[in-house]
Amino acid sequence: MPGSAHFFASCPRGLESVLARELTALAASDVKAVDGGVHFSGALALGYAANLHSRVASRVLWRVGQSRYRTDQDIYDVSRRLDWPAWFSVDRTLRVNVSAIKAPVKSLDFITLRIKDAICDAFRAHNGGRPSIDTHAPDVRVHAFLTASDLTLYLDTSGEPLFKRGYRREAGDAPLRENLAAGMLALSGWTPDVALLDPMCGSGTILCEAAQMAANRAPGIGRAFGFEKFLNFDAQTWDALRNIAYASENNSIKTNIYGSDLRGDALQLARANLEELDLVTKVTLKQANVFEMPPPAPSGIIVTNPPYGVRMEDRDDLAAFYPKLGDALKKNFSGWTAYILSSDMQLAKRIGLAASKRTPLFNGALECRLFEYKLVAGSMRRAKPAPVATPVQD
Ligand SMILES: C[S@@+](CC[C@H](N)C(=O)[O-])C[C@H]1O[C@@H](n2cnc3c(N)ncnc32)[C@H](O)[C@@H]1O
Repeated sequence: MPGSAHFFASCPRGLESVLARELTALAASDVKAVDGGVHFSGALALGYAANLHSRVASRVLWRVGQSRYRTDQDIYDVSRRLDWPAWFSVDRTLRVNVSAIKAPVKSLDFITLRIKDAICDAFRAHNGGRPSIDTHAPDVRVHAFLTASDLTLYLDTSGEPLFKRGYRREAGDAPLRENLAAGMLALSGWTPDVALLDPMCGSGTILCEAAQMAANRAPGIGRAFGFEKFLNFDAQTWDALRNIAYASENNSIKTNIYGSDLRGDALQLARANLEELDLVTKVTLKQANVFEMPPPAPSGIIVTNPPYGVRMEDRDDLAAFYPKLGDALKKNFSGWTAYILSSDMQLAKRIGLAASKRTPLFNGALECRLFEYKLVAGSMRRAKPAPVATPVQD
């Protein structure tokens, strides 16, 4: 496909560098990570490829307009001048989203309405009709981003957010988003030749993402995308990209992936999700208490997100949970490296192990750290007394 387009891929905060690496591997140009995502450019088909292959992006947005602005009327005028009828048919339903940083506007709802009016007016001038609005399941999403001085307008090439891979039938309690789970795996440096364990796997999101990585399964292979509704949709190019992705799958690869949970119903969810992916044979599932289980291999990588509490009584339970988890890891898992996602810095300190790395990550709006613990026998105990408080700088 000729021509160069500019894109912005959003992602959970903390995963921008992982996303930039993914996009560079897809031969994107002008790759530039900023807070919350990555700018890049390339042919329109690169947008298809990013949707199909990125494991950590939340959305891929195609930039269709950019201008300085001062007033609400400027925002209407810039939006009105764009050639919306060239990009999607009047029969498509529409939703407009606006986000802003330090924008001198009174109401984002009002700006949303003005941009919607501008798009509908552009259609009316073109052929007399206007697209209907559907805020729930629109065919086409327009995203506007305002800074203090600039307006950028994007068409959303993803549609439903990319963490919705299409395999999750069952959610369970507090499941991780799929792209955050994939990002944790990327930050751990896990590769499929290394043993991987999630000992508190819940509905198995980390296991599902790892099994797809091992099988070289494109994360978007099973779902539809927003760009399929655009007038410039190039079905031939898209089919070719999907065919290459199918042909690159390696479903016969031997894996070393293990998942366990205290609760049998959680394991059933994990199994159902892996079955939906047709990757259930790639993961060994077992009901077990993390405090008592033996390691499934002499060495490997643990990637997990333990329970977290919001209510006070949960927090008391968790205050007891973390030291026990630290003891079990020390006692049973020497030779392993553990990556533990936690939103509670106090509780994470109580684990009683010295973190070798802590990477800020956001689980939605919840600020977390991914703590790395190298579980080398004897060498990682904290100096006595080892209560709560060796300071951890965050
Ligand atoms: C926050 S959830 C994990 C969610 C998971 N990452 C997902 O995407 O669905 C924490 C899990 O830890 C499990 N758990 C709690 N205590 C445990 C223990 N002592 N041993 C093993 N699993 C435990 C819970 O049953 C729960 O499924």
